[in-house]
Amino acid sequence: MTHAAATLAAVAAVAAIAGFAAGCGAQPAAGPALAAAPARDEAPAWRVRPPGGTLAIDPGIELGAGLGAGARPAADALLDARGCASCHAAIVDEWARSRHALAWTNSIFQTEYSARPQAWCVNCHAPLTTQQADLAGPRAAQGVDCAACHVRAGKLVAKARRAGSPHETIGDPSFGSPAYCADCHQFTFPVLSEGGAVKRMTALPMQTTVASFRAGPYARERDGCMACHGSRHGHAFAGAHDAAMLESAVEVAWCRVPRGDTGGAGGVGLLGAPRDASAAEDQTLRVTVRNAAAGHTVPTGDIHRHMGLRLWRASAPEAMFEAFIGRRFEPADDGGSRTTWDSTLAPGQARSFDVPLAQLRGELGEPLQLELVYVYIGNEFPSPRNAPAEPTASSVVRRSAGADELPVCSR
Ligand code: HEC
Ligand code: HEC
Ligand code: HEC
Ligand code: HEC
Ligand code: HEC
Repeated sequence: MTHAAATLAAVAAVAAIAGFAAGCGAQPAAGPALAAAPARDEAPAWRVRPPGGTLAIDPGIELGAGLGAGARPAADALLDARGCASCHAAIVDEWARSRHALAWTNSIFQTEYSARPQAWCVNCHAPLTTQQADLAGPRAAQGVDCAACHVRAGKLVAKARRAGSPHETIGDPSFGSPAYCADCHQFTFPVLSEGGAVKRMTALPMQTTVASFRAGPYARERDGCMACHGSRHGHAFAGAHDAAMLESAVEVAWCRVPRGDTGGAGGVGLLGAPRDASAAEDQTLRVTVRNAAAGHTVPTGDIHRHMGLRLWRASAPEAMFEAFIGRRFEPADDGGSRTTWDSTLAPGQARSFDVPLAQLRGELGEPLQLELVYVYIGNEFPSPRNAPAEPTASSVVRRSAGADELPVCSR
């Protein structure tokens, strides 16, 4: 394990550079003194389609008559995750509970997809040509399965072939690099045909997880995305559907702003009515939300993902303060969409909200309630007709405290 891990690590460092250069379209330096440069002029072994999920992924294997049956049972078997379990049980088990395995069947996706079933969506959520041959079948149900990531040109692809491997594996050091994840996690808006096929991709970003990673402080991380999304058996890929991951990602702090530090609407109620303010009520509260542990913006990924920061008193819900942390779009000239509002938090970034206590109304001395909610869909409260069968939101932070229990903010 240790020797192999060290070797893979060295290869990964090269891969990160090569992947990045390829992403920028940079030419490899061709000076005579340079031996074999790390930059590559051939597409990596896992790359079989243009960016943006414009086509399905061709694994290079034709389907037999059924799972494991047919003309070429051995090659065919590479397309079924269940077959891998006899030797890779722990990996299959971990993957089976990941969002990758659920990418086609999960109810959040299916609710949105069945409202507008566009062919393009399937190219990432059940990406293989062999899955798309039967979208109601058992292969499509495996979503982003082993073969979607590991099988190209009829062979397994991995960083390197391991000693003792029975597979005819193609080793590619850029396997698993950010450039590799970008195949599905970085793309612009498409212009679609009536059937939902891609006519062309536009210029402005739709999902931009990999670009925000590359622009941030984790870009030089040796293991790229896997530095945080690696797991015991490498295949859990925990993200926003994992409570522990979410809780680690954002830090929320609240404090009382020292007097004189704000322009201060203290003492004025929401409707402008002067209040009978006690000393404690005549203050401003500062809530700070920080992206403490994600290697990209929070939220990232799907355009509907957002967070709501809420502050209120139980006796005056009508005066609740709420901030939206997410993105909004408007149509752009090229047929795509332009981001018109982006309050997502870049890695390490903090945003503070100053809220005069008096604005929250409620009873004097009554505890303050704070909640940060992560929402998976556009409308947190869908009508029963459009509601997915799984939760549409997850509470990240919930707190309650009296105003005078809060620390005074440091300047
Ligand atoms: C008969 C047992 C067996 C089956 C079935 C099997 N593998 Fe493997 N596989 C191995 C062994 C042994 C290794 C090498 C050492 C290790 O990883 O434990 C390996 C290694 C790998 C590797 C790392 C690259 C390499 O070649 O060393 C990948 C990726 C992989 N397997 C994927 C799969 C997938 C996907 C399936 C199902 C389609 C599968 N395997 C089915 C036994 C098997
Ligand atoms: C180029 C690849 C790609 C295409 C094409 C694509 N998606 Fe996705 N989709 C993703 C990725 C990657 C994620 C995970 C990011 C995240 O978790 O926010 C995702 C997440 C989602 C989610 C959130 C699921 C959840 O578990 O919370 C929904 C819903 C969704 N996609 C719907 C669609 C629909 C509908 C289409 C077609 C209009 C589509 N996607 C097309 C890559 C794609
Ligand atoms: C989202 C893409 C993705 C999917 C889906 C996926 N893998 Fe992997 N797999 C990876 C990456 C990335 C690595 C390399 C991890 C690392 O060492 O950084 C890997 C490594 C492996 C390895 C080598 C493990 C090692 O310790 O070197 C095996 C074996 C493997 N995968 C089997 C599977 C099987 C079996 C499935 C399906 C149940 C599967 N993978 C699904 C991306 C994927
Ligand atoms: C420094 C750690 C770190 C690195 C590096 C990192 N992530 Fe994440 N990622 C997180 C955390 C923590 C979360 C949970 C918070 C969230 O959902 O925004 C997350 C969430 C996600 C999600 C789901 C979030 C959403 O809002 O839809 C996706 C998809 C994702 N990461 C993909 C990637 C990809 C692709 C890379 C590499 C380009 C990467 N991550 C690199 C820590 C990291
Ligand atoms: C073949 C396309 C594909 C590839 C390649 C791929 N992903 Fe994904 N990934 C998806 C899709 C689709 C989803 C969303 C599934 C859903 O929830 O509907 C997803 C979900 C995720 C999530 C969970 C998001 C959440 O909200 O919990 C993480 C984390 C993630 N991917 C990380 C990675 C990393 C890191 C890599 C590269 C090693 C990678 N993925 C490669 C398609 C892909």
